[in-house]
Amino acid sequence: MKNYAILATSSHNRVYFESSKKLALCELTVALSKMSVECVEPTSFELANIFYLGFSASDSLSETDLKIMSKLSFCYAIFEIIEAHEKKLLSPVAKSNYEYINPSISSILKYQGKTNEVFTRMLLNIAMLSTEFYNDDDINLLDPIAGKGTTLYEGLVAGYNCYGIEVAVKPSAESYHFMKKFLEIEKFRHNTKIERQSGPNKSFTATRHIIEIGKSKADFKERNTKFFEMITGNGAHANKFFRKNFFNLIVGDLPYGVQHGNVSNEKPSGMTRSPKELLFNCLRQWNYVLKVGGAIALSWNSFVLKREEFVEILEQFGFTPLNEGVYLELEHRVDQAIKRDIIVAIKKENFERKEIKEPEVIQDSEEIQATEEINENQEI
Ligand SMILES: C[S@@+](CC[C@H](N)C(=O)[O-])C[C@H]1O[C@@H](n2cnc3c(N)ncnc32)[C@H](O)[C@@H]1O
Repeated sequence: MKNYAILATSSHNRVYFESSKKLALCELTVALSKMSVECVEPTSFELANIFYLGFSASDSLSETDLKIMSKLSFCYAIFEIIEAHEKKLLSPVAKSNYEYINPSISSILKYQGKTNEVFTRMLLNIAMLSTEFYNDDDINLLDPIAGKGTTLYEGLVAGYNCYGIEVAVKPSAESYHFMKKFLEIEKFRHNTKIERQSGPNKSFTATRHIIEIGKSKADFKERNTKFFEMITGNGAHANKFFRKNFFNLIVGDLPYGVQHGNVSNEKPSGMTRSPKELLFNCLRQWNYVLKVGGAIALSWNSFVLKREEFVEILEQFGFTPLNEGVYLELEHRVDQAIKRDIIVAIKKENFERKEIKEPEVIQDSEEIQATEEINENQEI
């Protein structure tokens, strides 16, 4: 048996402190289920007054295992615990350099309504580790309620193709400009494109901000690239923007039903603060674009929607919620008005109750040009 200890990042402890420890243990527990060797007894403990998470493994962790461990939202350093001379000694284990892009990307922007980036990384990890895609290289991630894109930045750090939909014009455009600037500073090769999309008789309109990213010139030439796309549009139109079964993961932080409104349809009268209404308007389309075997992971304010009801809603739209064990221990208090919880559900088969029409794309090159010019002048 080998014993491992993970030293948690200081930022992790600062943000929620007590509940962060519980959440970290949940994330670790989900991760241990995907290790190549048998791993047991996820726990947290203090050694010389310092907080660690730990577990026992039947053998040494493989490279893939270490990559999973290194990606954990709280992981600062990994050690093997060695007992010698009646003492516990920590022997450092090399972390994996898995990051596709500098992880500082998700902590640069500060704004009201931002989802904490450490929490977002945990949400993303729990979603990914709940699927069988966790070891795949080519992952498509969608955040259909993307705000200024924290999920997408975290997804890009993990090396995923990242797509976001945000109904509000300002944050979605800002996210695109921020990303462009970051890529320039970090000297990534990238191509940008802005497209307008609309439905018949303008039943919907959207602006697609698309960036293709390559680490080097050679990568770009060989199309060894990643995609980052932020759509200014309604998450309820996900099926108009993307083809069936395109995404491995759908991850998002639902409006809390407190401060931020959510738009459930195109009419101004569709403004609602109810995440439930948003779900009813969107889940069919989100199911359509998710691959069989893919996971949807959403965080939400459980003061405004009870878990049992959320489970029923997801089931109604053809998802299978993971509603047992560690998945029931993710609720935590954010402030007086928000008790945040996480729900994860798997798409086990295609949801065929009603056929959904294939996307229809109408492009207008003059409009595209005009949008590009307006956006280029915006400040980040
Ligand atoms: C809690 S915020 C997400 C914040 C985001 N994770 C971030 O860190 O920037 C929820 C977002 O959902 C957006 N939203 C609400 N209804 C929407 C809809 N129908 N389609 C797309 N986005 C929507 C809101 O405008 C808000 O930005």
